[in-house]
Amino acid sequence: MKILLIGTGRAAFHLGHGIRRSHHDLVGIAGRNMERARVLATDLNTEPVQLNEAFPDADLLLIAVSDDAIADVALHIPLGDAVVAHTSGAGDLDKLLPHPDRGVLWPLISLSPGEPMDLAQVPMVIDGNSERARITLKELATALSTRVSELDHGQRELVHAAAAISLNLPTYLLARSQKLLKDQGIDPDILVPAFAAMARRVEAIGALEALTGPARRGDVGTIHHHLDRLTEDPELRAAYARLSSMILRAHGHPDDGLTDL
Ligand SMILES: NC(=O)c1ccc[n+]([C@@H]2O[C@H](COP(=O)([O-])OP(=O)(O)OC[C@H]3O[C@@H](n4cnc5c(N)ncnc54)[C@H](OP(=O)(O)O)[C@@H]3O)[C@@H](O)[C@H]2O)c1
Repeated sequence: MKILLIGTGRAAFHLGHGIRRSHHDLVGIAGRNMERARVLATDLNTEPVQLNEAFPDADLLLIAVSDDAIADVALHIPLGDAVVAHTSGAGDLDKLLPHPDRGVLWPLISLSPGEPMDLAQVPMVIDGNSERARITLKELATALSTRVSELDHGQRELVHAAAAISLNLPTYLLARSQKLLKDQGIDPDILVPAFAAMARRVEAIGALEALTGPARRGDVGTIHHHLDRLTEDPELRAAYARLSSMILRAHGHPDDGLTDL
């Protein structure tokens, strides 16, 4: 399959390397910024393409640009035979109108700058408005990863929300907790090995089993001592009380009025 990747950012970088490692043919990198397109195309041993110029022949145009730019980029791509897809978990397929065969290939992982990521175990969520779009995207997704799921827009929105809750919120709470330590002259990285180990335990035994701490045990006295140390940061204190209440109640313990704090 001939694939043209549109975009020069993080998703394009990692997906581009994934496509290069597969048996598919990456025919070019298209970008509005030709210099960035050239740098990524050189890295991927393919051709740079200016976004508003003629595209090389391709079976799939994969749009990996910022969510808010997808519809505009799609609108300016001349209608043709290629399947047109984006890589966003948040966007529906109508963003790709008026292309007849539309789809999504969403890698469910944080793609950050750095070395090309091994995508083999990364969940790839796909969808398409037509049989042809679905088959095309499944063919690419299965070449990139062993974990491919087909989910419609409503399901993708739920997965996107669940990912935001379960990935972004703990990471932010870590950053905020590290600041607490730093402000007191304590090495903030003292928390990081345990955070990383928790992610590995979740992978091994599941989130509910991996959960530890005073709220799970029902040690409300310890939670109150913690809350006393958080008076300088009322927002974090309120979040700690609310989340602890959720965990206490989920484990059959009384929450001792924590949500009223
Ligand atoms: N990064 C992730 O963790 C991740 C994971 C899964 C899916 N995705 C999805 O992948 C897509 C790209 O995200 P990203 O993280 O790669 O973003 P990014 O690193 O910020 O790159 C954004 C890309 O979009 C281009 N762009 C922005 N506005 C544009 C416009 N009006 N016209 C043409 N090109 C425009 C940028 O071009 P310039 O360089 O010229 O500004 C750049 O190439 C998004 O839909 C995102 O939801 C991202």
